[in-house]
Amino acid sequence: MIPTRTLPADATSIMTAASVLVAGGLVAFPTETVYGLGADALNPDAVGRIFAAKGRPAEDPLIVHLADLTDLPRVTQGFPSCVSHLAAHCWPGPLTLVLPRGPAVPYRVTAGRETVAVRIPSHPVARALIAAAGTPIAAPSANRFGHTSPTTAAHVLADLDGRIEMVLDGGSATLGVESTVLDLSAPIPTLLRPGGVSLESLRDLLGEVLVGGRAASTGGQIAPGLLDRHYAPDTTLHLCIGTAAACQTWLTEVARTHVAAGRRVGLLIPDEDVALFADLAVDIEPLGSARDPGIIAARLYAALRALDARQPDVILARDVGDVGIARAIRDRLTRAADGRVEMV
Ligand code: TXA
Ligand code: MG
Repeated sequence: MIPTRTLPADATSIMTAASVLVAGGLVAFPTETVYGLGADALNPDAVGRIFAAKGRPAEDPLIVHLADLTDLPRVTQGFPSCVSHLAAHCWPGPLTLVLPRGPAVPYRVTAGRETVAVRIPSHPVARALIAAAGTPIAAPSANRFGHTSPTTAAHVLADLDGRIEMVLDGGSATLGVESTVLDLSAPIPTLLRPGGVSLESLRDLLGEVLVGGRAASTGGQIAPGLLDRHYAPDTTLHLCIGTAAACQTWLTEVARTHVAAGRRVGLLIPDEDVALFADLAVDIEPLGSARDPGIIAARLYAALRALDARQPDVILARDVGDVGIARAIRDRLTRAADGRVEMV
């Protein structure tokens, strides 16, 4: 057991946290997407501790976070020319680029690969912390492996209390889902994980962008973060994909059947659907309007954790499309459903 200190993310705490990182310690910190679990990316022992604290398999590579574009040559080499174009539009922000690994980056970070995932977060606390540490920071989401990503300091503590030195509490993450991962080591840019930067905007910037969980850089293997069961609650979750009307019909029928059989139902649904269940004893986490997927993304993980903690027998969720951030929501709910997806 390590005593985990939770500090408000002010200037003094950021300096304290930076010294913990420089000394090889682990600090969870807010980013605009989700909380990250940081360690000095150039210190293999510190990086090893991330995997131990999370229970993360060593084959799953980490994202290296930088404070500034001028630090990019510290971790990559010979990167493609489109990087500056992308960086000008998307950094700092929720875009992670998979690039050729620079020699200073330990293989522990990249899980033995010759590529490294890099991102410059926009959250002021994240940037101040990385700048103060003066070293690139490796940081996966600050949850136990396979769990739902944390969007608050309390979520981090629920998973990692006693396993890390410090949590910087910067309030709720605003975006709520992880960064977009784009593989630029392949001949054609390939989307490995939809996230805060939309596929549409990447296509506007780059032209052709492939969509796939199979990166050329992994020799055709599925990138580890794209393992099917990930971001998963303990409760069995079923996801419905289709038009709003068809999903609503499915949800009400399935919920009724479960309730009639004495099962406790949790619902992860947009505000528009809530009235449909007025006469049914179900546990609802309203996510916000389906017309505003940005709000749904911001609330998604907290709602999933809250519902899961109340231990219903089943969680039913519905999709809100695949345009913009909705693609990332669909992706995370699909993983949480672990194959239990109903197309209506
Ligand atoms: O928003 C985010 O990206 C958050 C915050 C903390 O920055 N971080 C995050 O990290 O979500 P993590 O470890 O939970 O997800 C990293 C993803 C995984 O899917 C991993 O497989 C992929 O990035 N990845 C990392 N390095 C890679 C590489 N060299 N090639 C392909 N995929 C890589
Ligand atoms: Mg993660």
